[in-house]
Order: sequence, then structure tokens, then C-alpha cells
Amino acid sequence: MSSMDLVKVARAMVAEGRGILAADESTGTCQKRFDSIGVECTEENRRQYREMLLTTPGLAEHISGVIFFDETLRQATADGKPFVDVLEEAGVLPGIKVDTGAHPLAGHPGEKVTEGLDGLRGRLEEYASLGAKFAKWRAVITIGENRPSAACIEANSHALARYAALCQEAGLVPMVEPEVLMDGAHALDECYEVTEAALRSLFSQLYEQSVLLEGTILKASMVISGSEAAERAGVEEVAEATVQCLLNAVPAALAGVVFLSGGQGDEEATAHLDAMNKLGRFPWPLSFSYGRALQHPSLVTWGADPAANVAAAQRKLAHRARMNGLATLGRYEAELEAA
Ligand code: 13P
Repeated sequence: MSSMDLVKVARAMVAEGRGILAADESTGTCQKRFDSIGVECTEENRRQYREMLLTTPGLAEHISGVIFFDETLRQATADGKPFVDVLEEAGVLPGIKVDTGAHPLAGHPGEKVTEGLDGLRGRLEEYASLGAKFAKWRAVITIGENRPSAACIEANSHALARYAALCQEAGLVPMVEPEVLMDGAHALDECYEVTEAALRSLFSQLYEQSVLLEGTILKASMVISGSEAAERAGVEEVAEATVQCLLNAVPAALAGVVFLSGGQGDEEATAHLDAMNKLGRFPWPLSFSYGRALQHPSLVTWGADPAANVAAAQRKLAHRARMNGLATLGRYEAELEAA
């Protein structure tokens, strides 16, 4: 793929009114989700659940791409059609999570560094040959007493940039994700400071590693109060602070920003994205790459009776995709939820 192609794919990922469905839960995370609905986490059940999501009628209307886990990229529908082909026929880009998880950072108790660079060049070549068009790598940053350390931010930024450069070499658009976790009682201001530091470090490392920003997508966490904070900032405040933070730390050349939901409520995540797009004063499209906030209602409906509820679960996904598609245009209203 030439750099022109990278730019084209990156732009398509954040095309008007569309965003990304994150369905790249590792087997461990999938176990947690399935435990919550009382479904056994077998490979076949994971396949059936993902088939339900991917074959949602009209998925492509508001979904530009889907992030897979390694297992899912290799799976097929019950009729034997590879999931990658299902997406391609629908006009949805297949993506793949390529990091191998966040592991304890030596010498820094409570902090993590994401691993997976060893052998990554070969894995990316294989993923590209299987049809993947973009890849994701997630770093995790925790807010706490004396956290994050400079070491944690730097180690994660460095790995993200090395991964991004390898992606572009393999013809895959990198989605770089430095997630500042919502866990904790911290105030919005603290989240702002940490997010800005993480983003500045990331873009400095991307520059060092000669990563083409026009062919890169940032998956960002919002600037938001900690989930246990006594007084949590409201929707407008979150939107203003997040946009301000991005404007300060993210180069205008970047192809686009998509947000993770990170434990926000389904409608809360939509309202935040919408409020940002209503502000409308930034150089990049602001869209979504939600996992839980897109899947949650669908997962619950499917889990109640996987054999009988496929169509009902797909309607739930289509609804959340539509609400978030409207939010990328700043045209979401809470009243639409009832429709
Ligand atoms: P959530 O939206 O559930 O946070 O998941 C998005 C994601 O892919 C995190 O890496």
C-alpha cells in the first residue's frame, strides 16, 4: 500500500456520519462480558455473538470499520463465509488488535506497559494478507498518587510509535490508543493534565519514528472526571475540556480522532461525542470507536436467548450505531433514544 492508500483508508475510517465498532475483546475480556449475561465463553459462542454483530442489517450506514481480535479475524459465519468477506461486501473495513496486552512495568508498581513488538512485523504481514486494513494498539495510563510516572508515559509512547511505523510499512493504518483510565476519584483537571502529557509524548514519539500522521488515527480517551469522583463534570464541561486538550496536543495533520467509551454509560458516551461536535472548531473529524457503549444493549438482548434474539440484538446495535453516527455530526438529541 502506498502512503496515498493509507491516507484513503484513514479518511474512510472517519467518513462523515460513521465510526468504528470495537469488537476486539481478548478471550479474557470476552469471558467477563459473557459472565455478565450467563453465556459460556466458548469459541463457538464467541463466533456466534460476533456473527450476530457483523451481519446486522445496514451496519455500514454508521459503521466504517470493525476491530477484530486475532481469533475473530480467522472466523466465518455458520454458512462458512469468512467474517472479513462479510465486512468487505458490506463496505466496512476490517481492523485487528495487534498488541499482546498491558503488563506490569518493571520498577513502577501499579503501572503498565503494552507489549507485542517482538515479531510484530511478521504478524502484520499476515494480518494484511488476511484482509485487515487497519490495526489497533492500546496503552493504559492510570491516574493515582504519583501516577502516571514519566517512565510509564514514555515507554508506552515509544511502543505506540514503533508499532505505528511497522503498521504503515505493512500497509495498515495504525490506530494509536493511549487510554487514560477513568478508574479513581480524580477531578477533570487532573485527567486533562495527564491526557495532555500522554498525547504530547505520543506525538513527539510518532514524529521521531517518522509516522505519517495523515495515515494515522488517534483513539483517545475523553477528558472526564474519575468514575469515583464525588462531583463529576457535566456533559458540556467534558466536551469543552476534551476539545481544548486535543487542540493543544494533537497536530492538525492527523487523519482523525475516535474515542473509546472506557466504562461510560451508553447514552453518556453518545452525549459527550455529540456535545464536542456541536462545538465544531477543530481540524479533525471526531468520531467513535466504542466497544461497550455500542455493544452493551445488544449483548444483553442476545444473552437473554442467543437462539431467538439475533434480530432483536441487531436492532439494538443498529440503534446505538445510528445515535453515535448522529453524534459525529452534532445532531444527536436524547429524545431520539425513544424512537
Ligand atoms: P470501550 O469503548 O469499551 O472502552 O472499548 C474500546 C476499546 O477498544 C478499548 O481499547
